[in-house]
Order: sequence, then structure tokens, then C-alpha cells
Amino acid sequence: MKYLIAGNWKMNSSKEFIRSYLSKLNFEDNADVKMLICPPDCYLDEVNSKTSLAISKGAQNISFEEEGAFTGEVSAKMLNDLNVEYTIVGHSERRQYHNETNETVAKKFNIAIKNNIKPILCVGETLEQRKTGQTFDHIKNQLLTVLTNDLINRDSEFIIAYEPIWAIGTGETATPEIANEVHVFIDETLNEIGLSDNNILIIYGGSVNSKNALDLFNMSHISGALIGGASLDVNEFIKIYNIAEEIRNE
Ligand code: PGA
Repeated sequence: MKYLIAGNWKMNSSKEFIRSYLSKLNFEDNADVKMLICPPDCYLDEVNSKTSLAISKGAQNISFEEEGAFTGEVSAKMLNDLNVEYTIVGHSERRQYHNETNETVAKKFNIAIKNNIKPILCVGETLEQRKTGQTFDHIKNQLLTVLTNDLINRDSEFIIAYEPIWAIGTGETATPEIANEVHVFIDETLNEIGLSDNNILIIYGGSVNSKNALDLFNMSHISGALIGGASLDVNEFIKIYNIAEEIRNE
């Protein structure tokens, strides 16, 4: 896989939405450009039953506990049961509204790895952190707290999503250059901790749409996107996917 085009539906959709959306999602399997849909957990089965196996399914969150008295949580084993291949961890909305810390994100990341679910680790700075020159320290800290433990090794499969908080849902995308600079930094950090052989994709998220995707995907270290708002429009989502495919074919 060289590109990952992932739709994060967040807390949107319904059975009717899914029926209509998936009926328009004509898609040919492509080993190099993977398509991933992350619906709310309660619709994972619905999406599963109506899509081809070529489209991967992901969760938006995962419990860091194995099982037991944790009301409202969904475990890795349950996600396994639903053929979930990926899970987002540490999305900024989880960090902001559900008090997730780097430490809880690390536990979620680990439990996903342990259960053969590929985590998509979201990292990114606030506008304040960017303005005060803390972007790189902040991101390094987010990465190291999660990635430096015994469970993570050269065989671990995961994805990093760089999502500057100021660009999420705001319509304000990072310029391709700003995004790429951080992607290069993430790549270097992975190198430093000996994970550069893992073939880890670093994808970008934050107001990606069919108009800015080409410029973003043309950058050296951007290998796809985590798309929120624009992924809810199936035509937009397909357009963005096709842009990634064209670039791969160049
Ligand atoms: P957005 O969301 O595309 O709506 O900015 C991206 C995300 O939160 O993953």
C-alpha cells in the first residue's frame, strides 16, 4: 500500500445515509491505494454487509481495556468480531472532549496492536502551539509517549495522521509545504526510534477536499488523507480517492 484514503464520518450517518452512500461508491480494488471508511461503531456491520472486502473498515476509537465493567466502551475483540482492520486513536476531538491524554492514547494504541488492528495515531498542534513555536516539540512528545514501548517493534503495522487542530473542520488547510515539513519531521522521528523500516504511511488530515488534495498528495512525504467533512459526500470522497490513484500512476 502506498496511499491510504480514509473517511472519518465522526458522529454522522444513518442507515438511510449508508444505503445511499454505498450504492454510489463504485470502486475497483487497488492494492496501492487503499480506501478506508470509519463509520460510527453501531454501523460497522451495516457498512460491512454492503461493501466489498476491498474497502477496509475502521473504528473511530477503541477501549484500552480488554473487557468488563466499562459502560459505553467497545473492545478490540468486539472490533475483531466485526472485521475491523483499523482504528483511529488519539483524534484531537477525543483528546479535547473526552480528556484523552498521551498515556491513554498509548494504551489504546497498544491494545489495537495486540489484537491485530492497525492503529491510526493522530497527532497535531493547536494554533497557539504553532504560533509560539512549539509544534515540533509537541508532536515529538505525542509520538514518543505512544511509540516507545516493548510492544512496538519493526513488525508493528500502524499509520500516523498529522492533523493540525487549527485545520480540522475549519476549512483552513495547512499549505502543502507546512504539512510536508511536519511529515518529514515525523519521518525523522520514526527513524530515530528505529521504526523507519515499518513502511509507515504518514497521512494528512484537516479540511482535505477534492480541490486541495492534488497539491497535498504531490508532496514528498504525504501518503494519503484522513478526511472528515468531505468524506460525507460520496462524490467528493471518490474524487479525492481518484486523485491519489492518478498520482500513483504517474
Ligand atoms: P475535516 O476532519 O476533514 O472535517 O477537517 C478531519 C478529521 O478530523 O479527521
